[in-house]
Amino acid sequence: MSGVTTNSPQPGITETSAAASGSASHLGHALTPGPILLLGAPGVGKGTQAKELMRLWNIPQISTGDLLRANVAEGTDLGSAAKEIMKCGNLVPDDLVNQMVAVRLTAPDTREGFILDGFPRTLPQADWLDGELATRPGALPIVAVSLQVDYNQLLRRITGRRNCPVCQRIYNVYLQPPKREGHCDVDGSELVQRADDTEMCFQGRIGNYQALTAPVIDHYRALGRFAEVGGEQEVAAVAAEIVGVVERLRGHA
Ligand code: AP5
Ligand code: MG
Repeated sequence: MSGVTTNSPQPGITETSAAASGSASHLGHALTPGPILLLGAPGVGKGTQAKELMRLWNIPQISTGDLLRANVAEGTDLGSAAKEIMKCGNLVPDDLVNQMVAVRLTAPDTREGFILDGFPRTLPQADWLDGELATRPGALPIVAVSLQVDYNQLLRRITGRRNCPVCQRIYNVYLQPPKREGHCDVDGSELVQRADDTEMCFQGRIGNYQALTAPVIDHYRALGRFAEVGGEQEVAAVAAEIVGVVERLRGHA
């Protein structure tokens, strides 16, 4: 990971954000981000970028993948229903995921905005979200950012990804390795690999993405307040570009 390093406000998280690199340093103060969608294929960097942006704007990341994995780990009814479906990247039924997001959106930390990562990923989910946000008094319209990364690079990102089960930091054995092999830089925990991060599951995940999620991207493109950002640059550069387009689409540029 690269970028300008400063003292982090959160323990263990390196400040590599666009704010630190200067180009968007005024944004955290000037912009009410509102609802931001990060869209893109498996491994494109949605989770990595969401963590950058939440630190910059002080708004939550709402990752449906993370929420579902937490439900599986806790053995909730939702987790039991989702477990087998998620094993190799099939999609959990829309009504279950929508209900989970509905509950999350009632939390007060979403008032100034939130970053949706991995949702919506079907047209029915997008329709549901659009309707749901329309009922929130004074809510800003959605800004959607679609990240783009080449297929072979996605495969490398997926098969090389490792996660810290404690602090959730995301690593990559090829691209963003930890300082000590197999262990988190922050808390020393043993890194884990997601069950769906195999080449075989990746093929299915990409297939689902093309069939079910690509139409969601077309939906938000047609609504406007939409931008595509190249995800192959280094993490801080991608974050700076996302900040720039959100600023422009919110009319602050
Ligand atoms: P989810 O967890 O959302 O998986 P995904 O969409 O397949 O996306 P990933 O988390 O794999 O990738 P990412 O884009 O977050 O990439 P990351 O930042 O980690 O969903 C999992 C499952 O849950 C689904 O398959 C489904 O079963 C279920 N589910 C979730 N949401 C659902 C929904 N709405 N409806 C129905 N079912 C749902 O980065 C990847 C790697 O690349 C990392 O190793 C990272 O270090 C590296 N990397 C990132 N950026 C860079 C960079 N700029 N340079 C170099 N390396 C980088
Ligand atoms: Mg993710």
